Amino acid sequence: MSGKFYVTTPIYYVNDIPHIGHAYTTVAADILARYNRLCGDDVFFLTGTDEHGQKVEEAAGNRGISPKKHADLMVENFSALWKKLLITNDAFIRTTDEAHVRTVQGILQMLWDRGEIERRPWKGWYCTPDERFWTETDLVEGNCPDCGRAVELIEEENYFFLMSKYQDRLMNYIKTNPEYILPEFRRNEVMGFLKSQTLGDLCISRPKLRLSWGVPIPFDEKFVTYVWFDALLNYFSATRYLAPKSGHGHPEKEAAKAYYNSKGEFWWPPDCHIVGKDILTTHAVYWSTMLMAMNLPLPKCLFAHGWWTVEGKKMSKSRGNVVSPNEMVERFGADALRYFLFREVPFGLDGNFSISALAGRINNDLANDLGNLASRALNMIVRYRNATVPSPGPEGKKESDLKAMAESIPDLVKNDLGKLRFNNALENIWKLVSLANKYIEDTAPWKLAKNPGDTERLNTVLYSVAESLRLLCINLAPFMPESMQNLWTRLGQEGELSQINLDDQSKWGILRPGTVVTKGEPLFPRIDMKTNNLNISNNSTASKDKEVSNRKQAESHLPGDDSKADNLITIADFAKVELKTGKILAAESIKKSKKLLRLDVDTGETRQIVAGIAMSYSPEKLLGKTVIVVTNLAPAKLFGIESQGMLLAVPGNDGGLTLLTTDKDAAPGAKVG
Ligand code: MSP
Repeated sequence: MSGKFYVTTPIYYVNDIPHIGHAYTTVAADILARYNRLCGDDVFFLTGTDEHGQKVEEAAGNRGISPKKHADLMVENFSALWKKLLITNDAFIRTTDEAHVRTVQGILQMLWDRGEIERRPWKGWYCTPDERFWTETDLVEGNCPDCGRAVELIEEENYFFLMSKYQDRLMNYIKTNPEYILPEFRRNEVMGFLKSQTLGDLCISRPKLRLSWGVPIPFDEKFVTYVWFDALLNYFSATRYLAPKSGHGHPEKEAAKAYYNSKGEFWWPPDCHIVGKDILTTHAVYWSTMLMAMNLPLPKCLFAHGWWTVEGKKMSKSRGNVVSPNEMVERFGADALRYFLFREVPFGLDGNFSISALAGRINNDLANDLGNLASRALNMIVRYRNATVPSPGPEGKKESDLKAMAESIPDLVKNDLGKLRFNNALENIWKLVSLANKYIEDTAPWKLAKNPGDTERLNTVLYSVAESLRLLCINLAPFMPESMQNLWTRLGQEGELSQINLDDQSKWGILRPGTVVTKGEPLFPRIDMKTNNLNISNNSTASKDKEVSNRKQAESHLPGDDSKADNLITIADFAKVELKTGKILAAESIKKSKKLLRLDVDTGETRQIVAGIAMSYSPEKLLGKTVIVVTNLAPAKLFGIESQGMLLAVPGNDGGLTLLTTDKDAAPGAKVG
């Protein structure tokens, strides 16, 4: 039985120029939407823009146009990019849509009538760039703890959503619904936060005098609602005026009117909200408690993905290293970029973007593995069977192995995509790519073609590779829709690949003998690593410059010789890094930091190290452990505490960090190398 699938991306600040981070979330949602459509589900895929707030008002003022006009112009950047990236969103919500504004006002009024909102005097430190208030104790050296910029003290009356009363209910909900917040280590982070802090009430208004560009509060015309309250409600308001009225390709259901009503009841709750790790708290805490107050069921899943860094550094306008998805699509194609983003790094962890890694994936996985498989198979059918798929003869062990592998893929992909493990899904599909390539090598059709006695055997082999390709097309369609449609057509298959039903098409043997195929150009042209500019160009910009987590991922393994060459260092480079064993003598948490611990480590002398491992280790678990320390790192201050070195760690299978240690006992201060 097929069901419904409602997936969302965050709504992007309209002031931003779209960068690779925005593309990442949106493509993830697109893969899920496309996949669920193929499964026969009714899909609602929502994305959009967040258009209210001080920054939009200011930017419009600087341009001498109205905020709405400014937003109308900026929104084009997103819609144009989504087209280029082959995004199939069913709707695009803008928080300036009249129907959204009305819904927000209706909900505000309802919560006010029910006593879920209160008016109170308010004093706080305000960070304008982040549009967030902080308490005195939150501040780090007098500045915003999130972005480090200056804050201003503001005193005024405001409206508060009484969030604090939902703290226990929220903790209980997260505990009893382990699939609600994913990945697991992020759920632990949210739980840790809720356990260690008393939840306050949420300030949801701004006086119009200070900010006029917002949704007016219906019961007090002197105020507008604060951006997050307005923004989060987009997920709900869209179900009331933007959601598809019938299932994808099911006009009979529309006729039955069972599908949709003006309250959006069919679509609620969302099946999956995809967000970046930086906005998990606003969703997991603000949004969840808002829904509790509204008496609405919570979304089924809130998935926080990691961030892309560039050559190990955070992306920022000032560094000039912001990756422009437009430029990447123009240079390498939408499908290649989509593939890279989801093959390279597990969704949920941070990843390192580099052109050499992208080009390495294109050359190795796409051009060599998949592209060659397709062109060899099609060329041989054209050459040996006049472009017509032959009837297969009897099936041997090699064919039954290939068939078993091909038929096992859809279940693996279903399981992986159900958990948003995009890279696992691609790895599983690649098992079929590899086996089909091996099958060609083992059966050597070019030899069979020389021997008239092998005619039937050659028919079997050619049929089997063509059928493998058809099944690859189906499984890869959500990831690389354009090239898979192209391959589908070359395989003589009619119509749109996006319209097929996965179940109907997943069995081996559906390809009809007699089908006429065509050769065509290489599906994925190779990237010449010598002539291609492997730098991230500096002409792209993005106006967002948020802090990236301290947790840097190790440089991903780059397949292929040429891409590795880009990454090589000399022994002299390596010798610059001084690594020693260290014994942990003391460990304690750092007030106000969820991630950091302060350690005393014996590396021959006792040194203080601030390590970002609090989410993975409790202080007592660390005492006496022998770890590996970078001892010649220039000291740095974190949360005002000097760190004299760095511990080495890797991402563990549990999603947290695992410290590197020694296999046998070793004295503190021993040189590693
Ligand atoms: N407007 C809010 C969201 C409101 S949702 C009700 C917002 N917008 S945003 O434009 O700043 O960010 C949108 C998304 O981009 C976030 O999920 C964020 O995590 C993501 N990314 C921003 N930089 C990123 C990377 N460098 N890498 C991956 N994703 C990143 O926040």
